[in-house]
Amino acid sequence: MTYDDFRAGELQGWDARANTYETATARATVQSIPDLLAAARVAPGKRLLDVCCGPGFAAGAAAALGVEAHGVDFAPGMVRAAQARFPCVTFVEGDAENLPFDDASFDVVVCNFGVNHVTDPVRAAREAYRVLGPDGYYAYSAWLPPEQNPAFKLIFGSVGTYADMSAAPPAPDQFALACTEGARFLTDIGFMEIAHRTVQGILCAPASGLFDYLMRWSVRMPLIVQNQSEAVREKIRKAIETEARAFIVGDEIRIPLLSIVVSSHKGEVAS
Ligand SMILES: C[S@@+](CC[C@H](N)C(=O)[O-])C[C@H]1O[C@@H](n2cnc3c(N)ncnc32)[C@H](O)[C@@H]1O
Repeated sequence: MTYDDFRAGELQGWDARANTYETATARATVQSIPDLLAAARVAPGKRLLDVCCGPGFAAGAAAALGVEAHGVDFAPGMVRAAQARFPCVTFVEGDAENLPFDDASFDVVVCNFGVNHVTDPVRAAREAYRVLGPDGYYAYSAWLPPEQNPAFKLIFGSVGTYADMSAAPPAPDQFALACTEGARFLTDIGFMEIAHRTVQGILCAPASGLFDYLMRWSVRMPLIVQNQSEAVREKIRKAIETEARAFIVGDEIRIPLLSIVVSSHKGEVAS
C-alpha cells in the first residue's frame, strides 16, 4: 500500500491553509504547546527543532523561553508564514521522514500534531533520534482516538457513517501512535524514559457552521469528504451540524478535544 496520493493531498492542503491556519487549526494545536515543551525539558540555550512546524507556534514559544529554535515543514507556504511570524527562528522546507540536518544537530526535537500527518511516523521518529545529540529529548503530540475524544467522535463518527472510504486516498492510521502502546515503538528505536500525559483541550468553532469550519480546520477530513457524492456530503454536513447542537455555548460550539503528549530521552550514547 502506498500513501503517495495522501501525501500529495496533505502537502497541497496544508500549503493552501498556511495563511488561514491561525484562525482555525492553530486555535486547537497551540493548546498542547506548554505540555509539549515541558515534556521535552526545554531550557534556555538548548538547540530545538520543531518538526512539521506549520506556521511555527511551538518553535516561537520555545524561542520566547530562550531556546535556539529551528523549524521544518514540507509545505513552502507554512515555512514562509512561520518565518514572517517568528523572524528570530530559522525555518526550512524539508521532510520529517528525511530531515535535512546532520546527525546530533539538536538537544530537543518536538513535533506538535505532525506524527498523525506523515506517511511513516516511525521513520519520522527515527529521524528525530538521528538528529538528536546524546542526552536529547523527543516529544510529540497527537489527537486521541474517537473513543476517548468527543470532538473526533463527532467528526469521524459522522464521516464514517456515510462516507465511502474506498473513494478517498488510502491513508495511514492517524491514531497509531496516540496511545501508550503505540509509543512503544520509541523503545525499539532506542529512546528511553517514555512518558505520556493527556491534554484536555477544546475545539471552538462558530455556532453558525461546524462542517464548513472543519473543512478549513482539517486536511484529512476534506480528503475524504471531497471524494464523496454531493448527496453523501450533505448527509455528513447534516449529521455534524445535528451532533454539534449539544455543544453550543452562546455563539460558539465548544467540544472537548483531547490529545496525548509523548516524551522520550535519547540517553547517553556510548562512544
Ligand atoms: C496539523 S499541522 C501542525 C502544525 C504545527 N506543528 C502546529 O502545532 O500547529 C501538520 C503540519 O505537518 C506538516 N507535514 C505533514 N507531513 C509532513 C512531512 N512529511 N514532512 C514535513 N512536514 C509535514 C504539514 O505541512 C502541516 O504544516
